[in-house]
Amino acid sequence: MKKTLIVGASGATGKLLVADLLKRDTEVTAIVRTTSSLKSTFENHPNYHEVSASITEMSDNELLPLLKDCDVVFSCLGHNLNFRGIFGQPKRLVTDTIEKMSRVIESLKPDKKVKVILMNTTGNCNRDIPEKPPLSQRFVIAILRLLLPPHVDNEQAADFLRTCIGQSHLFIEWIAVRPDSLTDEMAVSEYEIHQSPTRNVIFNAGSSSRINVANFMANLAIDSELWDVWKGKMPVIYNAV
Ligand SMILES: NC(=O)c1ccc[n+]([C@@H]2O[C@H](COP(=O)([O-])OP(=O)(O)OC[C@H]3O[C@@H](n4cnc5c(N)ncnc54)[C@H](OP(=O)(O)O)[C@@H]3O)[C@@H](O)[C@H]2O)c1
Repeated sequence: MKKTLIVGASGATGKLLVADLLKRDTEVTAIVRTTSSLKSTFENHPNYHEVSASITEMSDNELLPLLKDCDVVFSCLGHNLNFRGIFGQPKRLVTDTIEKMSRVIESLKPDKKVKVILMNTTGNCNRDIPEKPPLSQRFVIAILRLLLPPHVDNEQAADFLRTCIGQSHLFIEWIAVRPDSLTDEMAVSEYEIHQSPTRNVIFNAGSSSRINVANFMANLAIDSELWDVWKGKMPVIYNAV
C-alpha cells in the first residue's frame, strides 16, 4: 500500500485529494491546522491519519517520522484569500514547505525516490522548456508579481523543484501540476493534460475543476507509467470542453 503525506489537505482541493486517495487503498497522513481538522470527515477511515499542526511551525525533526518510508508527498497549500493570507506572513508558505520537506527527505536518504507533487498554477511558466506566453499575459503577470506575494511564492516553489531538485536528484522526483481557473464540480469529468498552457492565462483562461485536479494528482501518485510521462515537468490541466 502506498504511503502518502499531504500538506494543504484541508483546502478545497486538498480535501478532494484525500478522499480520492482513500478510495484507492492508499495510506494518507494529513498535516492540518487544529482549526481545520478533517477528522469529522475521514476519522472512521482506517487509512486516514491526521497530524494537528501548522506545517510552517514544524521542525525538520518533527517531519522526520512522517516522511520516513513515505512514497508520495503532495502540496495543495495556498494562501488564504483574505488580506492576511495574501499580504501577511508567511509570504513563502509553499516554497518554504517544499524546501523543508525536500531537506528532510534528503536527510533520510531513502532507498526509493520520493515523489513530490506540487499544486501550482498556469500563471507560472515552465522556464525549463522554455515557455513564451503572449505579451499581454507576461505584462499582467509582471504586475501580479509586484503586487501579490502568493504569486511569487507559487513561482518560487516550482523554481526550487526545477532548479534545486532538478531532473536527476538522488532521492526526489517531482511534478508541478498547473490548473487554470479552479472551479468546483461534484464529480470527476473528462480533462486534458498539456505540457504547456494552450490558452492565454489572463484573457482567455480555461477551467480546471478541483475534483479533476485531485484526480490527476492521485493518478500520478498511483500510476507509475503516468508518473514517468510527467516527472520533472509542469503539466497543465483543463476540463475537456
Ligand atoms: N484560485 C484559482 O483559480 C487557482 C488557479 C490555479 C492554481 N491555484 C493554486 O491552487 C492552490 C490550491 O488552491 P485551493 O483553492 O485548493 O486552496 P485553498 O482551499 O485556499 O486551501 C489552501 C490550503 O493551504 C492551507 N494554508 C493556508 N495558509 C496556511 C498557513 N499559513 N499555514 C498552514 N497552512 C496554510 C489551508 O489551511 P487552512 O484550511 O487551515 O486555512 C488549506 O489547507 C493554491 O496554491 C492556488 O494558488 C489557484
